[in-house]
Amino acid sequence: VDGYDPMASFDAAAAAIYDDHPRGDEDAAVAFLREAAAGGRALELAVGTGRIALPLAASGVEVHGVDLSPHMVERLRARPGGDRVAVTMGDFADVPVAGSFSLIYLVYNTIYNLLDQDRQVRCFENVAAHLEDGGAFVVEALTPWHLEGLRDNQYVHAERIAVAEAWLDVGRYDPVTQRLDETHVALGADGVRLFPIVTRYIYPSEMDLMARIAGLHLAERFGGWSGEPFTARSDLHVSVYRR
Ligand SMILES: C[S@@+](CC[C@H](N)C(=O)[O-])C[C@H]1O[C@@H](n2cnc3c(N)ncnc32)[C@H](O)[C@@H]1O
Repeated sequence: VDGYDPMASFDAAAAAIYDDHPRGDEDAAVAFLREAAAGGRALELAVGTGRIALPLAASGVEVHGVDLSPHMVERLRARPGGDRVAVTMGDFADVPVAGSFSLIYLVYNTIYNLLDQDRQVRCFENVAAHLEDGGAFVVEALTPWHLEGLRDNQYVHAERIAVAEAWLDVGRYDPVTQRLDETHVALGADGVRLFPIVTRYIYPSEMDLMARIAGLHLAERFGGWSGEPFTARSDLHVSVYRR
């Protein structure tokens, strides 16, 4: 999208509603990540409002975070336990923190927020440089199969329908660049609100090659946070990379 500023997707308006509709798999994600941290320090890339970082810290793990949006991080700070997570403001592709971690994780499709292959590979390389020996890099992201076979490579999806408002998800996918231009459209009595976002999808196989370039390998892959098998029907994958 011409003139698209990635940080506009995480402005004050977006941050204000971000936690209104939890996904429901947060507890399972926290249990998975707690085990993956194996008693060591954890770093969440793109920590956001602390949806995962706060309960993970509350479970006894030392959690650090990186993010670029002051609005998202402000929400994190305002929540109970928000002072327990040390957040560095910066681009997560750079992993701009000191020291190493037994767990680095990047969830909720956010690897796709890096809009070209170079930056996505750079992220893997910088993660590898901050992983302790035996450490894990856990990535959770949607599988891209739902973007195959779209008519004219575009879609309109009724996301949420309530008495006072309806939410549409409108997208156009470019298979050449693997970019999805998307906007969530909220229609209500107070008018129309738009929440645009651009992402670059990756097939799991491409992600595995990015890891290899960075000196990591795929150790495990699941179809969900509860250890579901990963299959052609999986809507998302949870992938564990190690050196
Ligand atoms: C979908 S939210 C995910 C937040 C959190 N990880 C979660 O699971 O709820 C994406 C987050 O990535 C952050 N973000 C996007 N691109 C970034 C970048 N290049 N560097 C740092 N943070 C970024 C946004 O500010 C936002 O907080």
